[in-house]
Amino acid sequence: MQENKYNTIVIVGQQFGDEGKGKIVDILAEESYMVVRFAGGPNAGHTLVVNGKKTVLRLIPSGILHKNTVCVMAQGMVIDPFVLRDELHALDEAGISYRGRLFISDAAHLIMPYHIQEDKDREASTSNPIGTTKKGIGPTYEDKVARRGIRLGDLRNLEKALNVADQTNINHYKALLGSREALNVYLTVARDIIVPFLADTSTLINDAVRAKKNVLFEGAQGTLLDIDHGTYPYVTSSSAVAGGACIGSGVGPTRINKVIGITKAYSTRVGEGPFETEFAGDIAHRIREAGNEYGSVTKRPRRVGWLDLPALKYAAQVNGLDGLAVTKLDTLSHAKMKRFWVRSEFDACGGKLNQPDLKLVDGWEEDLSQAKTLKDLPENTRRYLQMIEDEVGVPVVMVSVGADRAQTIPVGNIWSN
Ligand code: IMP
Repeated sequence: MQENKYNTIVIVGQQFGDEGKGKIVDILAEESYMVVRFAGGPNAGHTLVVNGKKTVLRLIPSGILHKNTVCVMAQGMVIDPFVLRDELHALDEAGISYRGRLFISDAAHLIMPYHIQEDKDREASTSNPIGTTKKGIGPTYEDKVARRGIRLGDLRNLEKALNVADQTNINHYKALLGSREALNVYLTVARDIIVPFLADTSTLINDAVRAKKNVLFEGAQGTLLDIDHGTYPYVTSSSAVAGGACIGSGVGPTRINKVIGITKAYSTRVGEGPFETEFAGDIAHRIREAGNEYGSVTKRPRRVGWLDLPALKYAAQVNGLDGLAVTKLDTLSHAKMKRFWVRSEFDACGGKLNQPDLKLVDGWEEDLSQAKTLKDLPENTRRYLQMIEDEVGVPVVMVSVGADRAQTIPVGNIWSN
């Protein structure tokens, strides 16, 4: 592998998750020595299509499909052992070997059955739900921050893990597992699944960075779901922004060379919370169907909205973006719109939908799926990309026109310029 100008790149979602990060990471992973996931857990669902075959990964980094890429699940993550077991099983079935190249931080936290139950109970019992994925994410991070969580390294000493689980968790949730014996069984199974992969991942990553190997940090969720910078309280419980790559993996900020943000050509959101550009009706339905906008974890229909440029500008600022990848331009062709809306601070000419800052742009109906260069795109699609660059102030460095790896237009080499 030749030495590049940039060897550490962070990939982060600029909207509410589901921007198509998995596919972009998968492509960049080809030239990566290592791919690191640094936040979230099985609330994420990265759908990859390779040669027409679909794989959904929830915990394991998208780089795993490349047979030589080292994959790391770092300490910012929360891990459900049974989801991990299912993913490992799926990889076994697909003939993808991962032993010796999949490493999990011993400081990542363990999702327990009572975390999942608490997540579900809370969502069911409030009149104001967050619309979580009900995978136990929030309660697991709560226990982490309250300094009563179980770290994966604790599984090496089951007695210690058992004591933490036994003492710290309120009787109601303990009741779920019934007894210390049942907790013991759960932790024993978790140990057998997880311990073979445990490592001091912070050192592994820093060693790779020092050796100038290409390391890709794969964000989960999106900036507007970030615990500190998102639409609180309708957010997830971890750091989904670029800074989270440092916190969640133990690599210092001075070691990160580049940050690339991913945005869809329109917006979607799953779960509750504000969504300025949301709309319903026939066009939303068309976009949802054309873009298969259903949650990859929960299968919930995603809410649909126009591209929100001020929100994108905010996300670009919070993440310190160097470049933007714009995905799902093809979905807008399939939705067959002569013109459509974007939210914009500039040239506002709208007033429709009670939103004075919506402006109309020219649409396109051409099939983009075979486009190999920007020049192959219709003029209106190119204008749309130019408008995004101009208003966000960040260059577009990659464009996606279909689910397959091959349906991607690179704008220069991200590792070298
Ligand atoms: P939680 O992460 O399960 O606690 O859910 C909190 C909020 O984040 C909910 O609105 C979820 O729908 C949303 N969310 C969590 N993970 C993802 C994701 O990977 N894609 C999109 N939305 C997500």
